[in-house]
Amino acid sequence: MELSVKPKDSIKGEIKVPGDKSISHRAVIFGALARGVTKVHGFLPGEDTWRTVECFRKMGIDIQREQDLVVIEGKGLKGLQEPEDVLDAGNSGTTARLLMGLLAGNPFYSVITGDLSLKKRPMDRVVEPLKKMGAVVYGRQGANLLPLTVMGGNLKGIDYLSPVASAQVKSALLLAGLYAQGTTAVTEPYLSRDHTERMMKHFGINIKKGENRVEVEGFPEIEGKKIEVPGDFSSAAYFMVAASLLPGSSLRILKVGVNPTRTGLLEVLKEMGANITLEKERIENEEPVADIKIGYAPLKGVEIKGDVIPRLIDEIPVLAVAASLAEGETVIREASELRVKESDRIDTMEKELKKMGAKIRGLPDGLVIEGTGELKGAVCESHGDHRIAMAAAVAGLAARGETIIKGSDCINISFPEFPKTLKSL
Ligand code: S3P
Repeated sequence: MELSVKPKDSIKGEIKVPGDKSISHRAVIFGALARGVTKVHGFLPGEDTWRTVECFRKMGIDIQREQDLVVIEGKGLKGLQEPEDVLDAGNSGTTARLLMGLLAGNPFYSVITGDLSLKKRPMDRVVEPLKKMGAVVYGRQGANLLPLTVMGGNLKGIDYLSPVASAQVKSALLLAGLYAQGTTAVTEPYLSRDHTERMMKHFGINIKKGENRVEVEGFPEIEGKKIEVPGDFSSAAYFMVAASLLPGSSLRILKVGVNPTRTGLLEVLKEMGANITLEKERIENEEPVADIKIGYAPLKGVEIKGDVIPRLIDEIPVLAVAASLAEGETVIREASELRVKESDRIDTMEKELKKMGAKIRGLPDGLVIEGTGELKGAVCESHGDHRIAMAAAVAGLAARGETIIKGSDCINISFPEFPKTLKSL
């Protein structure tokens, strides 16, 4: 599929974005592990989150859907059945890595795989600590690449110092920790998104939090809960950047998750000079939520590195678009994780933005972007990466002439309504 984007002078109005992807995955996981019914309102109807649903159905969990309501009949921690077939995580790293943690805890045989992109992404970051806890895992390249075979059960807690700030690693280990004797602790170099910890708290699981550290005890009893999923900040990000770039814009995005471990883009855009305010800030099932108001403002370049990187890692493609149109230089460093996302986002952003006339240069761990104040429409490729496709669409709104995004169907992974929302503005 192709998406055609024409330039726009401004975007105005009020929009909603779909449910948070990270929280939707976790809602299904904890709903399945709890006893009784969990009702999830505002569930993200995206390809990634359906993968998680399908995997749990294969493990004997009944999950029903009525529009954006998903109802899970949880069977308790020990209620999962050995799947009869291979579990397919599709394009979803979150499904694969979080399920690895869970499968490590369960005393059965399972095989998990994914699509071409996911089969290239490193799994040793979860496999290595899970093996230390006692799991048996086999796969290509010393169990680094999917498909992976897991024989789980009989885990013991470990105190793990993770070399990467990754919520997927942390969450996999915390999920395995629910099935481990004693305490499982994870310390990370910088704090990554903490939705798992917040959802554990919502389900009444006792966790201990320190600075960049979290601990959980094995074998808690958990019961089904109601969950309201806020709008996905990462989906809102495309419209936040678009409204900042297009003169005369004034946009309100309703009910967006503003968990501080996710809102690095807000901090950086403000530093660049953006006009953004949060309204009606509140907490809903342990997660901060707000309406976000954005108006046009001229942006200037910034330097981005260090602890903010995990808090905006998924927003770097669209941030690169903002930087291309800002005044001055933007330097993004210490973000080598971009190389192991759905595509190598350093390479793919460099390629696609160059086609549009941006002055952008890849570094081993980031990007240098010299703002030119203008872009021209081009024929871009998504590289099968939803965030590259949507970032290119935002660039297209602010460019001269038409932009075509080839392979735009990957947008369905996280934001099927994106083209429609774009048109509504
Ligand atoms: C996610 C964690 C992040 C993020 C991904 C979703 C999650 O990945 O990039 O889109 O839901 O836990 P890492 O944990 O690999 O940083």
